[in-house]
Amino acid sequence: MPIASNDRPFASDDDPRRTGAAGAGSAAAARGTGSAEQAADGAARIAERVQAVPGSGIRRFFDIIASMDHVISLGVGEPDFVTPWPISEAAIRAIEQGHTHYTSNLGLLELREAIATDVERRYGVEWDPREELLITTGVSEGLDLAARAIIDPGDEVIVADPSYAAHAPAIVLAGGVPVSIKTDAAHNFALDPAAVEAAVTPNTRALLIAYPSNPTGAVLERPTLEALADIARRHDLLVISDEIYDRLVYGGAEHTPIASLPGMKDRTITLGGFSKSHAMTGWRVGWAAAPPDLFGGMLKIHQYAMMSAPTVAQYAALEAVRAGEEYVVSMREEYDRRRQLMWRGFNDLGLACAEPRGAFYAFPSVAQTGYDDETFAEELLLREQVAVVPGSAFGQAGAGHVRACYATSYEDIEEALRRIRRFLHHAPMAK
Ligand SMILES: Cc1ncc(COP(=O)(O)O)c(C=O)c1O
Repeated sequence: MPIASNDRPFASDDDPRRTGAAGAGSAAAARGTGSAEQAADGAARIAERVQAVPGSGIRRFFDIIASMDHVISLGVGEPDFVTPWPISEAAIRAIEQGHTHYTSNLGLLELREAIATDVERRYGVEWDPREELLITTGVSEGLDLAARAIIDPGDEVIVADPSYAAHAPAIVLAGGVPVSIKTDAAHNFALDPAAVEAAVTPNTRALLIAYPSNPTGAVLERPTLEALADIARRHDLLVISDEIYDRLVYGGAEHTPIASLPGMKDRTITLGGFSKSHAMTGWRVGWAAAPPDLFGGMLKIHQYAMMSAPTVAQYAALEAVRAGEEYVVSMREEYDRRRQLMWRGFNDLGLACAEPRGAFYAFPSVAQTGYDDETFAEELLLREQVAVVPGSAFGQAGAGHVRACYATSYEDIEEALRRIRRFLHHAPMAK
């Protein structure tokens, strides 16, 4: 993946610093006006910053899985629970009542007010529902809006490696340059503030953080977050904070929104959602909170590109905020049970796994098996019909690990662990 890393701070030929939007003039010249020869060369008609983004590394596995029977999937990062019925019922009611038109570009005021009240009660951060809160089509849209609103061509954005597969592409598609900071199991995959500070250059525009983390399950402790906030303030950086897993923390871990730290609300875009906490991935609804100037930029893109988030889904989300708490708590308890089974299970099998304290992923090392992570995932799928995702799909620092999602039944995780045990007898290191 053509991402500048902190090992490779200078632009190289395959680096978006050279080939990204900063070189858009020459790209347009090279692209020409779309002749038959260029059409034959598929890529010639695609903008360079889009070419710079590889297709999803996870997709290939899902395609293989779809063609197989009896697969236990620890691959897909979404809840196995069905959306709690009262939430779905609120959407049905909305349809019956004819709420099938656009909402305000900002989203339903009632929903924005409910989110603002909920977040203030939970974390003490106050966002004005009329000027600082936007309902988005999932956190995915919020991420795109945030990146496009603040990134100018060539701006650098610091991001953890490994990180959610859409983070670096969102930066590249907005014309920016992701600068990745390695994290590792020895430090529970927490971002190291010293490494972040060392990566800051005059071109650094923002820091993109996402904790609890997909794919590692890492949670940032408050002192680390304070150190990152200090760096942002001293270097005048903006922060995009993807907090989609904020409700899924375990074992006494606490989530702290970076916007709640002194001086940070004014430089932070916070992204929140319902997909994971309320088992609502298919509804496509989330929210973004930002200080009024950044909010204005995001709203401009949102109103032209999206108009408004799906109306029926907004009514469902309103019910989720008002009455969804008991479901969040019971799903979280069940995830915690599965988390302990999986994390301990991997360590018992000799696949060293740092304790995942948030989200619903474990990220064990498979290096000691003698397989690289891609081969491990592919062989495990073909031999034992268990799907995990190679860690390198989330960045170079993910290599040698696999991501296993425990948002699947306890019994399936038990069976998956049995199959992995059998599989390990055939691993190169076992021979
Ligand atoms: C870290 C992270 N951010 C955002 C998303 C996408 O969220 P949504 O369904 O709200 O678009 C995901 C989904 O896996 C994720 O893991």
